[in-house]
Amino acid sequence: MHAVVLVGGFGTRLRPLTYSIPKPLLPVGHVPLVERAIETLVAGGVTEVTLALGFKPEPFMERFPDSTCAGAQLHYAVEPEPLDTAGAIAFAARHSGINETFVVANGDVLTDLNVADLVAFHRERGAQATIHLIPVDDPSQYGVVETEVDGRVTRFVEKPQPGDTTSRMINAGTYVLEPNVIDLVPVGARMSVEREVFPAIAATGRMYAMPADVYWIDAGRADTYLQANLDTINGNRRFKVPPVAESATVAPDALIENSIICAGATVEFGAKITNSVLLPGSYVATQSVVNQTTVMGRIDPCCKVANSMIGADGVVQAGSQIVDALIPDPAKVS
Ligand code: GTP
Repeated sequence: MHAVVLVGGFGTRLRPLTYSIPKPLLPVGHVPLVERAIETLVAGGVTEVTLALGFKPEPFMERFPDSTCAGAQLHYAVEPEPLDTAGAIAFAARHSGINETFVVANGDVLTDLNVADLVAFHRERGAQATIHLIPVDDPSQYGVVETEVDGRVTRFVEKPQPGDTTSRMINAGTYVLEPNVIDLVPVGARMSVEREVFPAIAATGRMYAMPADVYWIDAGRADTYLQANLDTINGNRRFKVPPVAESATVAPDALIENSIICAGATVEFGAKITNSVLLPGSYVATQSVVNQTTVMGRIDPCCKVANSMIGADGVVQAGSQIVDALIPDPAKVS
């Protein structure tokens, strides 16, 4: 089975990290985010993946030089300009000549969904398009979906206000589509799948949605990217990775608690790292205390850093105490 994975966004909410590495290639549990997303697809029967890329395709080709990822064969569809989600899906599907039922995944979403179950649900109902639904406590920032008992979609409510809907089921970003969905998107058109294509299909009665209350996180924000990493070591996923990579250098008396230390990262004597992610090549000097922070760059001695993101060019000067910071600050980067 073929899947299209959307990876063409700019990743502005993960700046400054995404200045040096495109969001889908940022590590989650030591491997690229997109590889974690593709692992789930492959477990559900996907064998071919077309990456719907918007810009900078080269780092992807370098990262997967044999054009395979998590056991799937990779294809690259590079849009001449951002086409939004439906435009990107149609562009990628045409690029790869997809002419059978296929899967679509948002490249930021990490989930333990059984994708084979979603495909079976779709086929049993003769659907044209089927969405995975996840329940959330507060749906106000998401696209809410209302359905009949059998899963037929009756209404979409984008970012509902209190009283707009009683549903707490949101679009979780994994879809099964019939190839004729592509025909609903004119060649080269910029269109949204959630706001334009799905409501049009729902109006014909062939749009379905399957609830599955499984592990799910949209890793595109600073807090959720950090959490997605910690979930790979804390037993929240169906797999577990070692928190400290073999090639990381960690001083014997450094304290590492609920944190990931990636390949080539260095933690010096007396440093304390809690609830954090030290990305490849990052450096934390002696006696520095780092909490709830993602580090790509350098933290000098005797700093206290909390709730921050330090990009590849970021340096926290010795003795600094910082909270809620982005270094370098994207607001000041031209
Ligand atoms: P932010 O800039 O931080 O909002 O991130 P983003 O640009 O990735 O946007 P968003 O998280 O809303 O995008 C959701 C998913 O769709 C991500 O996997 C994006 O890579 C992808 N995406 C968004 N717009 C496009 C597009 O025009 N083309 C392609 N190919 N993918 C897109």
